[in-house]
Amino acid sequence: MERILEPEIMDGEEQAKVYANANFAEENQGFVDQFLALYPDLQEGTVLDLGCGPADIPIRLLRSRPTLHVIAVDASGPMMQWADDAIRQAGFEDRIQLVCKRFQDLELAPSADAVISNSLVHHVPNAFQFWYAVKNLAKPGAPVLVMDLLRPETTEEARTLVDQYAADEPEQLRHDFYHSLLSAFTEDEIAAQLAEMYMSRLLIDVPDDRHWIVSGRVY
Ligand SMILES: C[S@@+](CC[C@H](N)C(=O)[O-])C[C@H]1O[C@@H](n2cnc3c(N)ncnc32)[C@H](O)[C@@H]1O
Repeated sequence: MERILEPEIMDGEEQAKVYANANFAEENQGFVDQFLALYPDLQEGTVLDLGCGPADIPIRLLRSRPTLHVIAVDASGPMMQWADDAIRQAGFEDRIQLVCKRFQDLELAPSADAVISNSLVHHVPNAFQFWYAVKNLAKPGAPVLVMDLLRPETTEEARTLVDQYAADEPEQLRHDFYHSLLSAFTEDEIAAQLAEMYMSRLLIDVPDDRHWIVSGRVY
């Protein structure tokens, strides 16, 4: 099945509200736990989170690493509002800097000590822009962890995944999950993008039936 692109920015009020109130605790904590396990030495510095959404991942990360800071970037105004509320509630206003901007327009000085991103890449029309940003915004040797959805082979498979993993979720979330699956990349496409960007030393893993994860250090 060819990729069917979904809108880049999640800037609908209702869409952001439903996403921010959905329970991604297991998936998000799993992402953070993997980062902590892969990079035990990263105790200080600034982690850049591209497409941070409601900021649940940076908040979880900072609870485990009390001397890290995060720059959390998302181009959706409504999503940033949810992120701002969550950060205040967690008491992390002085450790998470929110930037409402497309990551393609971001400039950082100094560069980030690490880059994370969950569930952004499938939104991006040209994935090379994403890998370029990772390379460009991170210090040489910075740890990277990127996770996203895998595109299934057929629309029927996508529908089955939605029924399997989001059976009782609101219709807006099921709709977004389905279209995100159709807009996602395959493992082969991600591998080809990394090769083209001279980033092949990053590792790709497929941990389950609907995700890929890229990890390693970027140079
Ligand atoms: C599916 S959400 C994931 C949010 C968060 N990373 C998480 O795991 O909960 C994807 C987010 O990426 C944002 N986004 C999409 N394209 C973007 C871009 N070019 N620059 C910045 N943010 C973008 C969307 O607005 C949305 O909030």
